[in-house]
Amino acid sequence: MSTPQAIHLSDYRPPAYRVTHTELTFELDPSATRVKARLHLERHPEREAGEALELDGEQLTLKSIALDGQVLGEDEYRLTEQGLRIESVPASFLLDTEVEISPEENTALEGLYRSGGMFCTQCEAEGFRRITFYPDRPDVMATFSTTVVGDAASLPVLLSNGNPVERGELPNGRHFVTWEDPHPKPCYLFALVAGDLNKVEDRFTTMSGRDVTLQIWVEEENLGKTDHAMASLKRAMRWDEETYGREYDLDLFMIVAVNDFNMGAMENKGLNIFNSAAVLTHPDTATDAAFQRVEGIVAHEYFHNWSGNRVTCRDWFQLSLKEGFTVFRDQSFSADVNSAPVKRIEDVSFFRTAQFAEDAGPTAHPVRPDHYIEIGNFYTLTIYEKGAEIVRMLRNLVGWEAFRRGSDLYFSRFDGQAVTIEDFVTCMAEASGQNLDQFMLWYSQAGTPEIDAHGEYDYARAEYRLILRQRTPATPGQSDKQALHIPVRLGLVGTKSGRDLALTLDGESLGRDAVIHLREDEQEFVFTDLAEAPVPSLARGFSAPVKLNFPYSREDLAFLLANDSDGFNRWDAGQRLALLALDDLIAAHRNGVEKVMDNRVVDAFRTLLTSDTDDKAVLAEMLTLPSEAYIAEQQPLVDVDAIHAARQFVKQSLAVTLRDEFLAVYQANLDDVSYAPEPDQIAARSLKNVALSYLMSIEDEEGVALTQRQFEAEHNMTDVRHALTLLTHSSRDDLADPALKAFGQKWAHDPLVMDQWFSIQVSRPQADALERVKFLMDHPAFSLTNPNKVRALIGAFAQNRVNFHRLDGEGYKLLADVVIKLNRLNPEIAARLITPLTRWARYDETRQELMKAELERIRAEDLSPNVYEVVEKALA
Ligand code: ARG
Ligand code: ZN
Repeated sequence: MSTPQAIHLSDYRPPAYRVTHTELTFELDPSATRVKARLHLERHPEREAGEALELDGEQLTLKSIALDGQVLGEDEYRLTEQGLRIESVPASFLLDTEVEISPEENTALEGLYRSGGMFCTQCEAEGFRRITFYPDRPDVMATFSTTVVGDAASLPVLLSNGNPVERGELPNGRHFVTWEDPHPKPCYLFALVAGDLNKVEDRFTTMSGRDVTLQIWVEEENLGKTDHAMASLKRAMRWDEETYGREYDLDLFMIVAVNDFNMGAMENKGLNIFNSAAVLTHPDTATDAAFQRVEGIVAHEYFHNWSGNRVTCRDWFQLSLKEGFTVFRDQSFSADVNSAPVKRIEDVSFFRTAQFAEDAGPTAHPVRPDHYIEIGNFYTLTIYEKGAEIVRMLRNLVGWEAFRRGSDLYFSRFDGQAVTIEDFVTCMAEASGQNLDQFMLWYSQAGTPEIDAHGEYDYARAEYRLILRQRTPATPGQSDKQALHIPVRLGLVGTKSGRDLALTLDGESLGRDAVIHLREDEQEFVFTDLAEAPVPSLARGFSAPVKLNFPYSREDLAFLLANDSDGFNRWDAGQRLALLALDDLIAAHRNGVEKVMDNRVVDAFRTLLTSDTDDKAVLAEMLTLPSEAYIAEQQPLVDVDAIHAARQFVKQSLAVTLRDEFLAVYQANLDDVSYAPEPDQIAARSLKNVALSYLMSIEDEEGVALTQRQFEAEHNMTDVRHALTLLTHSSRDDLADPALKAFGQKWAHDPLVMDQWFSIQVSRPQADALERVKFLMDHPAFSLTNPNKVRALIGAFAQNRVNFHRLDGEGYKLLADVVIKLNRLNPEIAARLITPLTRWARYDETRQELMKAELERIRAEDLSPNVYEVVEKALA
């Protein structure tokens, strides 16, 4: 392959020709599908006459081409690797093409492909060019009319976007359905599904009284697993009406579950296609976490109908325009229908672990990148989650009411258009009257800002001086960073009263919980009239996606853990306290000295365990130690073994000292009620299971017995999976092996449960994890062409910190071997899988060399643009 070239935002031009209407006919066949396209084309008013027509097209075999009904001779057009070019065309014309494609050979899962016996599509970002010749860019929006023709016996169901308008029988056992989508859309939102599918149907009446049919299409064996997705969909539809005033705009809304899918799901107009893992649930097969994930993803894709489909992106540099906003919307929805504090804690924990790592690594990029080689590599935590944090800051800066007015303005002003991030922020600026110029830097500047904060209380003046200094570290291609506008929400908690003190800044009274604005490199804030010395509670609710350093003593942290009125920061104080203790233990482990447990942590845990709380979900979070990955994030150089040992030591020390308290919590939260994925039940289960983790960590008789009993009771997958994980991750193979065997046999027929079975065993800390991966790669339930399997086995192993980072380099080698195979089969998945290797700079020299050697070995292959881009950055 030739060296892939970067595309730059600064080169954006409107398309020379646009499509006003697209007519498609598919004659489905596994190895030779025919696609006929009739494009209604016209010159773009901003472009000059006489320009050539260029259409994207990849892996298409052209069978015929005609312009305004005239067949084109071979000298009248040109075919290249990337597409088709016609030198001279009129200002407005019809183009007819017919191509042949082979869905069954499409293992990249972009364009039209086979999943089991069905046909399905994934077009975002640039998959449509593997279906037909087309201007495959989001600023070309057309109405679509799609006829799907297929074998009536094997493909009884034929779906596409919009509404079905005609269907009928054809000779040779074939039939067809014609679909019309009246809403102009970019081709990345096109979808087609054909197969032997069954539907579950429901109805929804919109706020203006329109009746919408809701359908979830699945394979027969999954008919019992759609209830939760359907209920989630209806909740999401109502929520978007009530919260954003957004109503659904077609008579039919369909979701289809497919087993082979690169991502979670896709918001195709009227026909969302989902990874089966993101839609199917049943109490026996899916955990609470999976139920909540399904609810969030169903909502996410539905919300895209406005934030993404009605108003879409001008170009792919603007991806966060739809993704950041839609993630913010789905996070808000999940917070509203579940426990809001826990949702925030979960989102921020994940963000600070994974997005911070991305921001600190070689693939760091701004929320709006200014260049890329392969857009498929930019469906990242930065675009999605940091993008959502930016929208959240905007909401907080302008306040909900102005934000909602800005959102209304955005949807009405740009309805049916493909727009930019400026267009969105401008609506917020107009609706609020605020100047957001400096704020825009959040979109262009990569890297995680750090704030170093210091504070001093002056008894004589009754003043607290808070000094905030910000800096953003250099990232690849961006060495100079400017000061950002960072909203810091804070309270000053009185050390005597334990209450938030009244805040007075520059003579202005701000209440007891306020936002201050850091805009310079350094700023001083003097709070006056404070009768007692405070401990500051900073960046409450994670008010900005930054690292905030403050020289808290352990006493300060224990104080905040007990007294902070902000639940999020109370949790964070506990995490910080545990991290300080872990730091000491990591150092002790490295220096070979005896580890001593910090009593302040034990005391804090005792208080948590014995205090009355009505929020069990938050308590469960508070009792959860920072993950090894998050601890690693805090270390200058990652020592995987020391981190694992230190965390295990803390866990066991707590379990030994507080055994009775954990036991009491476990027993108090045992329940026999019939399973429902509802907040109270979920909270009790998570608290119970956290307690069980501690009890099992010391592997005493009672802990083992409780865990085995929970495993065998088979109440629901949440409890079973947790118990299986504890047994499998214990030091005793005599506990692990029989449990794994029983579970594997019981669920051999259910691919989504087998995925969990794979992940649990390859993430065990015992030294045989790598051998297990190799062994399981030959298991009949494993397949390298199914992304869920690859994630469950290989992806999960690469998160197994002690074993992936084995000093013999075998973990790295295994990952690289898989990447090399997937580079040909599925470049998008291959490129994602490399991520852990790109973080080599965080490890000791020996591991650095081993990781880089594997990256070099990958680099020597004939690489897809996806893998090429990641590997080049990692080795730059
Ligand atoms: N727009 C989809 C979503 O966020 C994701 C599509 C990802 N496509 C891809 N090729 N990476 O819901
Ligand atoms: Zn999305």
